[in-house]
Amino acid sequence: MIKVGIAGTRGLSTLMGLNSIEDVKITAMCDLDEEHLKTAAARIGGDVRTFRVFDDMLEKGDIDAVIIATPMQCHVPQAIAALEAGKHVMSEVTAGVTMDELFWLCESVEKYNKIYMFAENVVFDPRIQQVKKMVEAGLFGEPYYAEGMYLHNIADLFVYPNGKTSWRSYWQCGTRGTFYPTHSVGPVMQWFAGDRITEVSTFSPGVYNTLGLKQDSGTTSMCRTANGKLICIRVDCMSPRPHNTDFFHLQGTKGCFTSKAHPDDYNRVSFIDDENDSPLHNMKWKKLEEYEIYLPDRYKNATEEQIKAGHNGSDFFIVEDFIKAVRENRQPDLDVYTGCEWTAVGLLSALSVTNGGRTIQMPHFRKNMPLDEKKITL
Ligand SMILES: NC(=O)c1ccc[n+]([C@@H]2O[C@H](COP(=O)([O-])OP(=O)(O)OC[C@H]3O[C@@H](n4cnc5c(N)ncnc54)[C@H](O)[C@@H]3O)[C@@H](O)[C@H]2O)c1
Repeated sequence: MIKVGIAGTRGLSTLMGLNSIEDVKITAMCDLDEEHLKTAAARIGGDVRTFRVFDDMLEKGDIDAVIIATPMQCHVPQAIAALEAGKHVMSEVTAGVTMDELFWLCESVEKYNKIYMFAENVVFDPRIQQVKKMVEAGLFGEPYYAEGMYLHNIADLFVYPNGKTSWRSYWQCGTRGTFYPTHSVGPVMQWFAGDRITEVSTFSPGVYNTLGLKQDSGTTSMCRTANGKLICIRVDCMSPRPHNTDFFHLQGTKGCFTSKAHPDDYNRVSFIDDENDSPLHNMKWKKLEEYEIYLPDRYKNATEEQIKAGHNGSDFFIVEDFIKAVRENRQPDLDVYTGCEWTAVGLLSALSVTNGGRTIQMPHFRKNMPLDEKKITL
């Protein structure tokens, strides 16, 4: 039996997924807010133990693993405390809020030898995984350019309903740069297997919000990969516009994928094949759904219960991967180094945008990283 503790109410997105896996039980819940704690405990049901203080849950919660879904600035201190206490960790995005924190996190995962999974859920979107399979099958040729956009006006989240200022005013929109990059970077990196981001350069039109927050009115980060590929990440959480939190584009030597840009649009692909026999002709779009044969088996065979967990089964598969990694005692694909690299795109972008778009080198996050590489190089 794997006993899990959840910290922060957002962690309840894993509830149905965890409940549908055999020999896994949520035994503890932690939230600083008494009311949130009560509501969460009622949703979990059974004899779940509740704690307001995270360290108390680690000590007295009788748990093997913890899901950290507290505000971003709590992730690294809580993850390190959990690893030190011998617990496995699944952490919400982003992995941390400073570069030093990211280095400490990697060191702690190595030191305490526990499983750490970075819970970047958009990676599990069926479209992303289907396009990954199509890349592997060579349909797009060699991918060389991708885009990810996260356009989400979060003005309603800066103040809680009780009038208190929320952490998002400081740790998200109180900072410069592409502060929330992983929902865009993570998915597109699925299409560049074995590659990693080596450079980040960020531009913004400036700060136009009238709320007195420091965040740019949209940022565009250009990321170069070790293999020389280009990735463009646009994040805008301040401008007045409808949401589009999951727009993606991929271009390869033989074709491209473009996700739907608004609710009436559709996900589309175009590649050189029998109908589009030459890149010199005006190539035609096809619906991505015509290529569902490339959807990974676990999406095709998802049970009703798995789909009900949320987001077409994505909310189940993320939990499934974490529990599998714990059972097999091996780090998951979304390991600490991956989480840190994707998070660092945002942290480095703040330096870049405040220095006229200067290119900042990405450290190579990996096991036993030498101390003299744990620095930011301009
Ligand atoms: N993956 C996604 O799609 C997604 C979506 C939304 C939020 N998030 C992430 O989830 C996390 C939480 O976001 P949210 O929107 O739920 O924030 P929120 O402010 O609405 O909720 C945070 C909860 O954590 C509790 N909390 C705060 N500090 C705590 C502490 N030290 N110990 C225990 N509990 C504490 C608060 O009382 C509150 O209930 C953030 O890291 C955010 O980036 C991810």
